[in-house]
Amino acid sequence: MLRLESLSCGYGDMTAVQELTLDIPDGKITALLGANGAGKSSTIMCIAGHVAVKCGKVEYGEKEITNASPMERVRAGIAVVPEGRRLFPSLTVRENLIVGGYCRPRESGRRNMDRVLDLFPRLGDRLKQQAGSLSGGEQQMLSIGRALMSSPTLLMIDELSLGLMPKVIDLCYEAISELKRKGLTILIVEQSTKLALEVADRLCVLESGNEVWQGTSDKAGKNPALIDKLLGMKEESD
Ligand SMILES: Nc1ncnc2c1ncn2[C@@H]1O[C@H](COP(=O)(O)OP(=O)(O)O)[C@@H](O)[C@H]1O
Ligand SMILES: [Mg+2]
Repeated sequence: MLRLESLSCGYGDMTAVQELTLDIPDGKITALLGANGAGKSSTIMCIAGHVAVKCGKVEYGEKEITNASPMERVRAGIAVVPEGRRLFPSLTVRENLIVGGYCRPRESGRRNMDRVLDLFPRLGDRLKQQAGSLSGGEQQMLSIGRALMSSPTLLMIDELSLGLMPKVIDLCYEAISELKRKGLTILIVEQSTKLALEVADRLCVLESGNEVWQGTSDKAGKNPALIDKLLGMKEESD
């Protein structure tokens, strides 16, 4: 399990997330919700080691990783699909996948590539195509696939459904459910409250860098005031 303990992080003098305490249980889907600028991406990128910790602790399993490098975190099993995908547009689909597995031995690379292509057969038809020429949905699949190439035990996806067609969103969520069935722990940032309530086991709601609610999706679904607040946040951020 991943545990954030009173974690504050940010950029220079600016604190983006303040004293966030959050447990992300193994084998479950946890969703981070909140309006634009609430600190969702900062939280994810801090867990991945790309945003500076100001105080507090990050623990993964038995290990404290608060000061670990991004690479050490990848080796510990943490992978991130960043907002905007950040693929290498001039590299092919295959090359993008290979890059994702660079910290693992070559044998696991082949095995992982087979798994990714089983999960997203569409990528298999486009292995030699440049990533930049893929549709938005295919790019999201490739970005998830690239993250899976590092054999993660925790997969974090920022803005999973943003800008995607409903059909592609369904495909991506089917893949996420399949990964969960296989035991992967998943943390998503999802702008659609409805989707988050449907797919996530647990929710954590951020407002201006502070946690304002966390608990199971079932509990959230029975809390009309919270649902109204979440829907309001969405409008605010649109
Ligand atoms: N690279 C950065 N440098 C300075 N401030 C940033 C940077 N990225 C994000 N922020 C600020 O941190 C806060 C949280 O942003 P972010 O984590 O991106 O929110 P969200 O993902 O919930 O929209 C915002 O006030 C934002 O302006
Ligand atoms: Mg964001």
